[in-house]
Amino acid sequence: MFGFLNKKRKSLIGMDIGSNVVKCLRLDLTGPRPTLTHFGMADLPPEAIVDGEIMDRELVIEAIREAADRADLPNDPVASAVAGRAVIVKKIVMDKMSEDDAREAIYWEAEQHVPFDIDDISLDFQILQDDIGADQMELLLVAAKKDMILGYAELIRDAGFNPMVIDVASFANQNAWEYLLHHGPASDDLDGEFDADMDSESRDGDDSAEEAHESSETVALLDVGGGVTNVHIIKEGIPHFTRDLPLGVANFLEEFQKQLGLTYETAQRVARGDIDGVDAQLVTEIVHAVGSEIYDGLEPSLSYMKTSGESDGFDRIVLSGGGAHLPGLLAFLAERYGVPCEVADPLRALNFEPDLFGPGEAEELGPLLTVSVGLALREGV
Ligand SMILES: Nc1ncnc2c1ncn2[C@@H]1O[C@H](COP(=O)(O)OP(=O)(O)OP(=O)(O)O)[C@@H](O)[C@H]1O
Ligand SMILES: [Mg+2]
Repeated sequence: MFGFLNKKRKSLIGMDIGSNVVKCLRLDLTGPRPTLTHFGMADLPPEAIVDGEIMDRELVIEAIREAADRADLPNDPVASAVAGRAVIVKKIVMDKMSEDDAREAIYWEAEQHVPFDIDDISLDFQILQDDIGADQMELLLVAAKKDMILGYAELIRDAGFNPMVIDVASFANQNAWEYLLHHGPASDDLDGEFDADMDSESRDGDDSAEEAHESSETVALLDVGGGVTNVHIIKEGIPHFTRDLPLGVANFLEEFQKQLGLTYETAQRVARGDIDGVDAQLVTEIVHAVGSEIYDGLEPSLSYMKTSGESDGFDRIVLSGGGAHLPGLLAFLAERYGVPCEVADPLRALNFEPDLFGPGEAEELGPLLTVSVGLALREGV
């Protein structure tokens, strides 16, 4: 998106400054397959970043340094991302013209679509359809507040690193998914998938991994983060829709604490899928109740996509973020939407030494790392 340089890199650090957890990882991009060489993360107090805006710089810098120290990161270029209300992604229609001309005209067009002063934003776009009739074309407009982009870049610099690219988190997530789709292991290890419709003829259990992951599918990437759920719907590499729902792991934790009488620490353990010693039935009910709010939050947008003829809904859900292991959430979403649902595992497309992670840690952390992997792959794809 908002690249400061556009050179191919031999290695890149993906730095996902989430509102709850900072994740850093470095990919060596010289081999036939990217190699994950360094990895580290650190918690952030909830007041440090609110709705993508940095409220306490010092806390964030400290967390970046902590994650970087744990990863023992070398000083390579960094790709990071912004998210939240200061980022706007919108499909727009404008007069047909060349990409170069559009690059200039987009500033005039954007004025009608972005609720910020045009001088205060950085713009990027992608032509989705270069001819939609009536001499018009369709573009995807991406706008982000300049001070936010510069603020993130400065933060990374103040933490001792060199920011090279500031992307948008949902696009980085998409990048990781697409990389996995096109370069991932073409094996049949789809262990994490939960198929709501296993018995139907179309999915008779003989599908190969490639068939199961048709690239013509409409895929909903659902990133259930600490504070928000980002929904990013893509088809054939083109984002159709992206939206933040104001619901995240925190909402599940709150209900676990309240209804199950748990400490915050035990609620965290439950959120990560360990329900030992707690009322499993109640956990399921809570996950269904909060999961329904996510479902309901998405409904208006889905209906809009259907009525506008953009899409008949989606064919697959890929769940990422810290909420991916919430007990029963995967099955619940698969059932409500009636489509296969799987947990994102971006590490599957990477080489790494087994001792980079503790036992079972790679599977546990994979879904939290989609954005950072997508960022670190940014120049390598
Ligand atoms: N292994 C884990 N390590 C840390 N947090 C985890 C883990 N598993 C689940 N979680 C939960 O997920 C939350 C963090 O999720 P995630 O990293 O996706 O959020 P974030 O990116 O910081 O937030 P957002 O995307 O909303 O800005 C934590 O607050 C915690 O409750
Ligand atoms: Mg996140």
